[in-house]
Amino acid sequence: MSIKTSLILALESSCDETAASVVRDGRVILSNVIATQHKLHVEYGGVVPEIASRAHIEKILPVIDQAMKKAGVTFEQLDAIAVGNRPGLIGSLLIAVSAAKSLAWALGKPLIGVDHVQAHLYAADLVNHADDAANEPAYPALGLVVSGGHTCLYHVTSALEMTKLGNTIDDAVGEAYDKAAVILDAGYPGGPMLDKLAQTGDPKAVDPLPISLLDRDSLDFSYSGLKTALLYRVRGNPVGKGKDVTFERSAADLSPTEKANLAAAFQQAAIGAVIKKVRRALDQMAEQGRTPKRILVGGGVSANSEIRRQMLALGQACGMQVCLPPMSVCLDNAAMLAGLAHHRFMAGDFDDLDLPVIATSAM
Ligand code: KG4
Ligand code: ZN
Repeated sequence: MSIKTSLILALESSCDETAASVVRDGRVILSNVIATQHKLHVEYGGVVPEIASRAHIEKILPVIDQAMKKAGVTFEQLDAIAVGNRPGLIGSLLIAVSAAKSLAWALGKPLIGVDHVQAHLYAADLVNHADDAANEPAYPALGLVVSGGHTCLYHVTSALEMTKLGNTIDDAVGEAYDKAAVILDAGYPGGPMLDKLAQTGDPKAVDPLPISLLDRDSLDFSYSGLKTALLYRVRGNPVGKGKDVTFERSAADLSPTEKANLAAAFQQAAIGAVIKKVRRALDQMAEQGRTPKRILVGGGVSANSEIRRQMLALGQACGMQVCLPPMSVCLDNAAMLAGLAHHRFMAGDFDDLDLPVIATSAM
């Protein structure tokens, strides 16, 4: 019988969340502490990198402390220190990576650098109680990452191995949500606010917004056309050109019902595009004789009410298991990093203390 135990502390600071988590055996979350910076960025309508790094410096030690206390473990009991070292804002990534290196060096424990995008796809296999970890995650799977920076489909053959099938050619779906929220003046953070607004609207009360499916066989995504279509629908036709361009109206001229209906129409189009591409990927994989055993979903947009509803419905219609992350690990968190790092730990695949921070994902 193979020994599969591990106790891993992971740290995360790639964007505007400072997080630390302890996970046992790659599956069981013992603690999942997340300090969000939303309040610091709200007046700018987006993440300000300098403010983000400064806040990570202030939060990282208290967050680690809390994660260790909640898990009820000591530093000596840990088997490894994991950290998200890519992708993200360089100044932000550096904070968790520096803290993780210091801990690994001081404790004499292995350091494991984790790709944040790959970890998002692992989040659906995390559980809150050991009893729920009885079933081994099945592979191959079709992986869908929907986040602020990524909209990708993958053929996933193990926790650590995946091949990209499709990618966005312009905006990521989360980024489109954030921009649509600005256009509709729906508040900050954009994605969750727009989701909430959309739930109060009726998509059929307005003309549908266009979904770009690209070529017939393409598994890529495109969201810039949808964003522009919403902009024109809200503001009317542009008048003038270049920096002098003005619009006929603004979101302030819409009634609350019109705003909610447009938000719902945007949500239908944005999520509709994802569902169509997942179906297309399943069809293509079946034609190639590599039908997946399940569909894994991850990334911040996996918290969206409509994607959760429509993915589960798709799973039922195709007789395929759809694995969504628990809500506590949809957005940026360190538990997904600790879980994934277990597989590297078991393989004895560690990083040196000169582990770099990298702005882009390797996935
Ligand atoms: O995974 P994540 O926390 O960070 C990245 O790795 O990018 O994803 C953040 C993205 C943001 O664009 C945010 O607006 C979006 O996820 N998001 C949502 C919802 N919750 C978060 N988008 C739509 N509906 C939501 N409920
Ligand atoms: Zn993320």
